[in-house]
Amino acid sequence: MISLLERMNEAAGEAFAAAGYPEVSAKVTLSNRPDLCEYQCNGALAGAKIYHCAPMKIAQAAAERLSLSPLFASVEAASPGFLNLTLAPEALADTLNQVRRAPQMGADAIGSGKTIILDYGGANVAKPLHVGHLRSAVIGECLKRLSRFLGYRAIGDVHLGDWGLQMGLIIEELRRRQPDLPYFDPQYKAKKYPREAPFTISDLEEIYPAASARSKTDADFAAAAHEATHRLQQGDRGYTALFHHILNVSKADLRKNYAALNVTFDLWKGESDVQPYIEGMLADLEKKGLLKESQGALVVDVSEPGDTKEVPPCLIRKSDGAYLYATTDLATIVEREKLYHPDEYFYTTDKRQAMHFEQVFRVARKAGIVPKERVMEHLGFGTMNGKDGKPFKTRDGGVMRLEYLLKDITEAVLARMTSQEMSPSEKAKAARIIGLAALKYGDLSNQASKDYVFDIERFSSFEGNTGPYILYTIVRINSILEKYRGGRPGALPQILRPARSQAEKSLQLLLSRAGETLLDAFREKAPHRICLYIYDVSNAFNSFYHETRILTEADGEARKGYIALLALTRRVLTTMIYLLGFSAPDRM
Ligand code: ARG
Repeated sequence: MISLLERMNEAAGEAFAAAGYPEVSAKVTLSNRPDLCEYQCNGALAGAKIYHCAPMKIAQAAAERLSLSPLFASVEAASPGFLNLTLAPEALADTLNQVRRAPQMGADAIGSGKTIILDYGGANVAKPLHVGHLRSAVIGECLKRLSRFLGYRAIGDVHLGDWGLQMGLIIEELRRRQPDLPYFDPQYKAKKYPREAPFTISDLEEIYPAASARSKTDADFAAAAHEATHRLQQGDRGYTALFHHILNVSKADLRKNYAALNVTFDLWKGESDVQPYIEGMLADLEKKGLLKESQGALVVDVSEPGDTKEVPPCLIRKSDGAYLYATTDLATIVEREKLYHPDEYFYTTDKRQAMHFEQVFRVARKAGIVPKERVMEHLGFGTMNGKDGKPFKTRDGGVMRLEYLLKDITEAVLARMTSQEMSPSEKAKAARIIGLAALKYGDLSNQASKDYVFDIERFSSFEGNTGPYILYTIVRINSILEKYRGGRPGALPQILRPARSQAEKSLQLLLSRAGETLLDAFREKAPHRICLYIYDVSNAFNSFYHETRILTEADGEARKGYIALLALTRRVLTTMIYLLGFSAPDRM
């Protein structure tokens, strides 16, 4: 659909041309003086340089023409040459009635016909989740939903870290604890190994840290763990069977954790899946003359003439023959090209990995693994800190367990729920929904690249720029709409009317920007833009609500218009929170 802004731009361009200034580029923008007007156009200022005359002269002439447009209630030339624009309520209501019927609330389906791979989550098998994994999951899930909404075929891949030394550590530790397991018996001849894993997830959670600690003090053990990793990577039968047990037990637990976050993946692949591609890829790099030897290791030079900071060579194989993080990521791109033909790649990890991805993208382009025009983006996020300003830790100083984090925030929410009407179990259920919103909104409302403080008290508050506040607004709208219905079935009035008050108009103005907000958020990979927007919408709605008699409005047509406005507000808010990855309770 043609947005309001586009229509205003067109009208302004025509007005300048009709006034005799066709060269003026008439761009309409949101007003930065909302006390004076809703939109503005500064074309006359630049036009003055082209036409060598006072900007005010151009502005006045254009204003005269533009005020004839049905889009505006008023067009004023203001010194030294601004155009102050105020929309006609009818034009605004018209626009909203179009938004209401348009797909994607007016946003163009920019992804239609395109495939995007989103690589997020990135948990490491058998290792505890850390806060970086939480942010990756929350941000990645939002961008996946958003890209799907905008028409992309979106494929989310968890890309597990499942091929490193941690596997060797666990296997070696197990071998010492339970040497009699068949996996360690070189004489084991049966066709298959037992189906049941010889450990549970709690065992694994204890085994890995123990093995990791042991490797730091016991050089023999460390060497044996390296050897075990190597044997696994060479395809040892028993070790491979054990590896699959570790993977399965771990994945089942991860699925549970991600599900609690409302995070899902289309692919549960990992680093181990792409090992078969590595040899071929290396041969290809070799053939293209890209591999260079450097102190026994193999590297690819990726510096470019325009670099403002040094981009070191990408390490592909260590001198001991081991492959690295970059090797696996490149092989993953080889596989993704082959299986999914993506038009775009999106990765989100801790921003400390920015250089890694820059190097990987460059090698991929240089080696022709992807064509030059392939969009490859890495969004690096900052750290989630505790109140002490250090990376968030649990109360006992350990690594974050997602379950506890969710439990804490749910309790904080519950403590704030004062409703007398809800049963304890209804309350508990609502608190879980609200707690998740508090957690996710608390994260997503910050610009991703910045560090932020995980502040349970602030995040769980029902007031201010928080998830619960947004949900509260939705619940309030729901209850008004329910009252309006009074138990009667059937559709609500749909047609919005021209605003009758400034509060109503402010809300309508915001709603007219739903589509462009989503497009901006996607282009900039910036979920915080959606948060900011729904916070503004919620504030505008609540102001409107406080100064308007909605259900008791005497004029029946006006009342219907209000109901339609509420229904659209609710749709915009619920769509956007869905895209952010959470939902609203029935009551709170
Ligand atoms: N497992 C990695 C980590 O914990 C994150 C993986 C991100 N994705 C990727 N394709 N490298 O840091």
